[in-house]
Amino acid sequence: MSEFDFLIIGSGIAGLTYAIKVANELPEAKIAIVTKADEKESNTKYAQGGIAVVIDEISDSYQQHVNDTLKAGDGLCKKDIVKIVVGEGPKRFKELVEWGVNFDKKNGKYDLGLEGGHSKKRILHHKDITGLEIEKTLLNQIYQKPNIHLFSQHFAIDLITEHHLNKKNDIYSRKPLCYGAYIFSTIDEKIIPFTSKITLLATGGIGQVYQNTTNPTIATGDGIAMAYRAKIILNSIEFIQFHPTALYHSTTNPSFLISEAVRGFGALLRNKSGELFMQQYDNRKELASRDIVSRAIDNELKKSGDECVFLDCRHLNIDEFKNHFPNILQKMNEIGINLKQDMIPVVPAAHYLCGGISVNEFGQSSIENLYACGECAYTGLHGANRLASNSLLEALVFADRCFQNSIKLVESIILPENIPGWNDERTTQPKELILITHNLKELQNLMSDYVGIIRSEERLEKANKRLKMLYEETEEMYKKNKISPQLIELRNMITVAYLIVQQSLKRTENKGAFYKTS
Ligand code: FAD
Ligand code: SIN
Repeated sequence: MSEFDFLIIGSGIAGLTYAIKVANELPEAKIAIVTKADEKESNTKYAQGGIAVVIDEISDSYQQHVNDTLKAGDGLCKKDIVKIVVGEGPKRFKELVEWGVNFDKKNGKYDLGLEGGHSKKRILHHKDITGLEIEKTLLNQIYQKPNIHLFSQHFAIDLITEHHLNKKNDIYSRKPLCYGAYIFSTIDEKIIPFTSKITLLATGGIGQVYQNTTNPTIATGDGIAMAYRAKIILNSIEFIQFHPTALYHSTTNPSFLISEAVRGFGALLRNKSGELFMQQYDNRKELASRDIVSRAIDNELKKSGDECVFLDCRHLNIDEFKNHFPNILQKMNEIGINLKQDMIPVVPAAHYLCGGISVNEFGQSSIENLYACGECAYTGLHGANRLASNSLLEALVFADRCFQNSIKLVESIILPENIPGWNDERTTQPKELILITHNLKELQNLMSDYVGIIRSEERLEKANKRLKMLYEETEEMYKKNKISPQLIELRNMITVAYLIVQQSLKRTENKGAFYKTS
């Protein structure tokens, strides 16, 4: 058993920011960060466009950022949360700069980018590798804190809650307590309870549930599935944001993103015949919010039967492009696309989960002493559709709020002594690991085919039936076989897919990223 004051699950922007703040404030506290892969691996690392923050109150205003967020969220944002996040953004941004994150400047001022749904230029960025710059800098801070114990290749399987101690249901007349999580070290193949007074879920997104996604392979919705098994309240899981412009290259996982900032820079969308089409869908054209642009592309592809549309950068100043988007340009060079002559083939891809673990304005979940932050959390900021570059911002603001709230609680918490070890009755190795791979592929295909940008009752029912079979087969494997990361991830992804399908069946009104035909 390993005992901590703070257990943080996940090493993206949300988990790392929270850890740095706690470590600075409470140098005596014992803090653990567990992360299932290499510590750098996260959605954060791949963020391109940047962070939306009102930094220049002459050309921009808080009210305009609030309005843009509300408009993108299509009536389902929590207004008080939107005001909080937009209002606290500049302070949190300054902290990032103080920790050493380098944001691009032009003539001594921050160089602000533009993205879909924003009425003003307000995207702070580091070239087109903003996430990598943030991830590296935050980890450098973490490495310098002696009271942070960083466990990479450590996989959280399940939360430890009161029901592990007391199987009777009658204790739940109040909020049950969380005591940490069961952690699987993939280095020595041991599962041990990491007990903790405060636990933070910062496990990120779910993109890998779909066949085409911009999310790296770690994005398997583990935190959402763990929370669901612990009966924690979830919200808005049906709102999956598809990014309009992932590079069309059918065999790569994840799909390479062509940042929305490229459209903000002037790139245009054309169909295979070379025609512009966005003017038919929204008067903001290429800079409409993502849900609108993705549906427009989906519609164009359905009408034409083509496999992709094209992003046209041929009219842009390539030297300036190179300066702002060196990573994208390098990728284009690698695959033989000359931006002066060729257009970039693009398709929409699963990108972001707008819903998640329901939390209050301090990041507290429906279980005591358990917080959630970042993409796995539902704060109410995004409503039915996230405004571009509001995700890194939300993670920063809520990491601070979780920190402020949890440091007040930690001293009063006493952990029980009878926390049981992991009950591992499974003895055999999976007979054929390939069965896990087959089921994973089937899951990803069925989610892309039946639960994509445009859903229907009929398709959702089909998905439901197939999911049931996959669920039963996988549960059978889980009960009989020795645990492996692949098996846990598959099981978690099936849970997330089930939740998306169930919530999609229940939802009767089309809003933002959710669209269902009858
Ligand atoms: P992540 O950064 O995904 O971190 C999750 C961590 O949890 C990882 O370390 C993972 O390994 C770990 N983990 C997961 N499950 C387990 C488990 N079971 N046990 C242990 N560890 C676990 N947003 C913006 O605002 N601006 C952008 O420009 C932008 N660009 C993007 C570009 C791309 C290609 C992608 C994919 C996303 C982009 N986003 C952007 C979204 C944004 O990057 C993410 O929403 C945000 O980084 C999520 O941060 P996080 O800390 O919540 O999760
Ligand atoms: C992008 O750069 O297009 C991604 C921005 C985001 O997801 O907010």
